Amino acid sequence: MFAFSCAPGVAELLVFLLCCSSVFAADCNSTWIKSPADADALRRNCPIVYGHVGIGPFNGTSTVHINLDGITMIGGTLGEYPYSRHEYDTQPFYTLSSSTLRSVDAVEIGHYDSKVVNLTLPNLDYVDDYFKVGQSAYDLTYLDITSLETTSTIKLYAPNLTTLHHTRLRNVLELIVYPMKIDSLDSLANNPIALEDATFDGPFPNVNNITIGFTSVEDLRINDNSLVILGGTSTKDMNITQLKLSGDVTDLKRSAQLNSLEIDTLALTASSSITDLELPFENLRSLKIQETRSLKSITLPPQALDWAGGFHLYIATAPDLNLTSLYSEHNSTQTWYWPRNVSYINLIDITTSTEFFDPFLAQQNAPLDSKYPPSVLTSFSVLPSTNSTGFNCTPFNELLESGRLPKSGNAINCLDRTKPANGAISVHLPISFIAVSAAFAIFNSML
Ligand SMILES: *[C@@H]1O[C@H](CO)[C@@H](O)[C@H](O)[C@H]1NC(C)=O
Ligand SMILES: *[C@@H]1O[C@H](CO)[C@@H](O)[C@H](O)[C@H]1NC(C)=O
Ligand SMILES: *[C@@H]1O[C@H](CO)[C@@H](O)[C@H](O)[C@H]1NC(C)=O
Ligand SMILES: *[C@@H]1O[C@H](CO)[C@@H](O)[C@H](O)[C@H]1NC(C)=O
Ligand SMILES: *[C@@H]1O[C@H](CO)[C@@H](O)[C@H](O)[C@H]1NC(C)=O
Ligand SMILES: *[C@@H]1O[C@H](CO)[C@@H](O)[C@H](O)[C@H]1NC(C)=O
Ligand SMILES: *[C@@H]1O[C@H](CO)[C@@H](O)[C@H](O)[C@H]1NC(C)=O
Ligand SMILES: *[C@@H]1O[C@H](CO)[C@@H](O)[C@H](O)[C@H]1NC(C)=O
Ligand SMILES: *[C@@H]1O[C@H](CO)[C@@H](O)[C@H](O)[C@H]1NC(C)=O
Ligand SMILES: *[C@@H]1O[C@H](CO)[C@@H](O)[C@H](O)[C@H]1NC(C)=O
Repeated sequence: MFAFSCAPGVAELLVFLLCCSSVFAADCNSTWIKSPADADALRRNCPIVYGHVGIGPFNGTSTVHINLDGITMIGGTLGEYPYSRHEYDTQPFYTLSSSTLRSVDAVEIGHYDSKVVNLTLPNLDYVDDYFKVGQSAYDLTYLDITSLETTSTIKLYAPNLTTLHHTRLRNVLELIVYPMKIDSLDSLANNPIALEDATFDGPFPNVNNITIGFTSVEDLRINDNSLVILGGTSTKDMNITQLKLSGDVTDLKRSAQLNSLEIDTLALTASSSITDLELPFENLRSLKIQETRSLKSITLPPQALDWAGGFHLYIATAPDLNLTSLYSEHNSTQTWYWPRNVSYINLIDITTSTEFFDPFLAQQNAPLDSKYPPSVLTSFSVLPSTNSTGFNCTPFNELLESGRLPKSGNAINCLDRTKPANGAISVHLPISFIAVSAAFAIFNSML
């Protein structure tokens, strides 16, 4: 009837369902609410419930209103009856509200097919374990969690939710937000807090921009057709260990309010629709770009010279990206500054030229005791696309021979495209294909 792959709170609820579902909670212990009368008895007798509160199943066909006004704390999980698909079909819609509830151990609504339409818990500010309103809350359109600030994990996924009343977050480690029809993610994303993981995995059809205000986050994933703004209304400094953008993210901007923005790894995958990628960061250690067919240009600002930690650059399958010149096509502004410490370069099927590498080549050729000595790379491979003009392997081969570039496993690290490709192409294709597959494998293992 139900899978046991569920979280501890749900498992506890189920155990209590199997063993004790007929026990009435005169002792304010775990109970199931199967009618408005059950809810009434509980809320009148129990300001504090020491166990779990399970909702359902209900009799009848008209919407059931469950009111838990009077209860301030639930020591266990506030959850739902695990309906089978058949039972779910015959259940009435229901609403759940409590204007007094402030603290719960865990909330889990919509883990199983749920008929909840309105969940109103405006004073709930603390959930010890997790707050999950899950994927199977198909009919939930209204969610009031105005005060919710502190919990370990928040997972929100109510595909038809149009109204979310929520103010801000103060203490959360993990935030996972799936498709919803709400018109702003601000109360979730625009908070100056430190978290471990945050995922905004859309589509959010009514959201145009996602403003990230976190001061630090280890793993931030954004998958939505929106503008992403790094830096919220009150964020001064931001550190992101990994930022992964996909799903037609339209652009990435830095808020003017930020004093500093450091990103360890930025990965663009699966058709983000950014055309001109700017990287105005105080630090970036790794840039990974794959399958970004709309990308035309990348700007590495002057502060990229000082990016520390040994820069990793991986780019594959960006057919419109043109890395031929260090300067803007429109004026003479320099748009690419090579970091002075590079440890990895892997460019596959990219339109480029030798000239693009000039500052890098000059540094690799410099004496070891220079102010900016040659970088020590673990891997170097450039596979120019057939669109490339002026790519000459000689300076790279010289560096390979003098040991200033690594002789990595790939037989072909540098494909000569000084001359317009013609008959040679058919000879080179299988080789580049092998190199592309190998590099994909490396890329995927790095993510
Ligand atoms: C609540 O019920 C459980 C199981 O019946 C029992 O072990 C526990 O002692 C009860 N707690 C209180 C506070 O009565
Ligand atoms: C629901 O209906 C069943 C079957 O008619 C009955 O046994 C049960 O007491 C009803 N429950 C409630 C809460 O009214
Ligand atoms: C949801 O319930 C709350 C509290 O009962 C009420 O104020 C609100 O208007 C309801 N929302 C909808 C859309 O019915
Ligand atoms: C949203 O609600 C409509 C109407 O109730 C329903 O048909 C649809 O399946 C729901 N959408 C999702 C994604 O559950
Ligand atoms: C972000 O979206 C909101 C709501 O649609 C809008 O008011 C605001 O101007 C947008 N901000 C930017 C920078 O586009
Ligand atoms: C960001 O990282 C830098 C160096 O790694 C550190 O000095 C700074 O305090 C961090 N800032 C935040 C807001 O975590
Ligand atoms: C370059 O980065 C690597 C990797 O972090 C580091 O070991 C090395 O010391 C750096 N080199 C310089 C010259 O800063
Ligand atoms: C060559 O450039 C054109 C125009 O930018 C682009 O459409 C095409 O995909 C590119 N071909 C390769 C192999 O990169
Ligand atoms: C790439 O850019 C260079 C100049 O920056 C230009 O001459 C060349 O035509 C461009 N290549 C393609 C395929 O667009
Ligand atoms: C050069 O052109 C770029 C757009 O390609 C623009 O952002 C920049 O401001 C221009 N610089 C100058 C000095 O005009």
